[in-house]
Amino acid sequence: TAEEMATGTGDRRRRVLLFPLPYQGHINPMFQLAGLLHSRGFAITVFHTHFNAPDASLHPAYDFIPVPDGGARPAADSPDDTVQATVEHILALNRACEAPFRELLAAVLDDKAGGSVACLVADAHLLTLLDVARELGVPTLALRTGSAACFRCFTAFPMLCDRGYLPAQDTSQLHAPVIELPPYRVGDLPAAGSPAAHGRTREVLLRAVTAVATSSGLILNTFDALEHAELAALRRDLTVPVFDVGPLHMLSPAAASSTSSLLRPDHGCLEWLDAQAPASVLYVSFGSLAVMSATDLVETAWGIANSGRPFLWVLRPGIVRGGAPSPSPPQLPDGFDAATRGRGAVVRWAPQEEVLAHDAVGAFWTHCGWNSTLEAACAGVPMLCRPCFGDQMGNARYVDSVWRVGVELDGGGELERGKVAAAIAAVIDGGGGENGMRRRALELKRRAAESVAEGGSSSFNVDKLVDHIMAL
Ligand code: UDX
Repeated sequence: TAEEMATGTGDRRRRVLLFPLPYQGHINPMFQLAGLLHSRGFAITVFHTHFNAPDASLHPAYDFIPVPDGGARPAADSPDDTVQATVEHILALNRACEAPFRELLAAVLDDKAGGSVACLVADAHLLTLLDVARELGVPTLALRTGSAACFRCFTAFPMLCDRGYLPAQDTSQLHAPVIELPPYRVGDLPAAGSPAAHGRTREVLLRAVTAVATSSGLILNTFDALEHAELAALRRDLTVPVFDVGPLHMLSPAAASSTSSLLRPDHGCLEWLDAQAPASVLYVSFGSLAVMSATDLVETAWGIANSGRPFLWVLRPGIVRGGAPSPSPPQLPDGFDAATRGRGAVVRWAPQEEVLAHDAVGAFWTHCGWNSTLEAACAGVPMLCRPCFGDQMGNARYVDSVWRVGVELDGGGELERGKVAAAIAAVIDGGGGENGMRRRALELKRRAAESVAEGGSSSFNVDKLVDHIMAL
């Protein structure tokens, strides 16, 4: 069988090379995939940039190869536009890593003792490196860490520009539906809110589409019951095979994601959760990249305080735009501690999967990064959505109006403490009530578990992926 060949019982052990894009939301699914492929018998080599390098000591079973990235860093002087900074950084990393990666990969291919290389799985944003691998004769697979719906937007980007949806001319256009891609509205499309970055964003998204189209397959962290129609549409549009093998965090051996965390998770908050009533706690986290204004931080704090609900809040160092530089924690408003004493916990980084799986958590206020969205949906936790950029608006649209397991926080613009408090109460109380958000979330949780169980769609696709890799 393919598995016997991979484990070396039939043939020599095959090696899969991985290259994640160095952002937390991209590193986690790549390491979850590594765990999954390793459990199927493949040897694993992880190429990585110096920027946001993984801790190799936490993965003794893998080989790690650092690739000089020429010091490419996201521009610290444009924190107002995360999209622009990220887009430029992605392009810079591709350029800087090209030559060193070529040399390092050639050395791996020369090293006969390391086992034969089956393929390179790289993030779809690393087109240049996927090209290098192919030039050296290594088959490639592209991992897209967002939803299937999001990748459809990437492939539809030229059409969206041709038909005048993008770049959006003014804010009134943002509410218009995108007829060709329901349930998207113009403002939900990636990059709709960053007109200044339109040209370069288009370049980066189309590079990702090329990366997929020129690879031997697309790996997606989603599952059929969640995005059936979107996956079917992608399969129609793409000529390469699509492997929906999500949710990867449920398929990967335990601890895969806790060991790929760039910040150390505070496990003490789990004990605090143990002492809270079931489904009572609001968990608040905006992922690894989103930033907020100092005013929004104050309104968030008082909204949480005034909701009267217990809360666990992840306040990442550097989350406040123009605030205390990382690694200092952001300053909370005077009086906040006294107003919430005994009712809340604030941490710098949480073990999010374990938090979402905890009985005490009743709702998740999220920025709707794809990993957070998927993790919450699969844990049966209703969401309060406040998307910030990129794919997050589209993810929120699905949460709110397709899966109906959460609501979007009104306003989009500046936060207001009264609205925040009311929205928190509505999701925690209403989640279990007649509007049935929690019931639907639990149904999604059940379907996610089904998809990764034996005979489930994702589990079947993992087998197909393993066979595909062995046949490359
Ligand atoms: C980014 C983009 O913002 C997101 O939209 C895109 O889909 C992927 O890349 P990020 O903003 O970090 O990711 O959000 P998300 O995709 O939710 O990933 C965050 C990861 O960090 C999740 O796996 C989450 O479990 C983990 N996390 C977050 C923690 O482990 N602890 C925390 O306290 C917060």
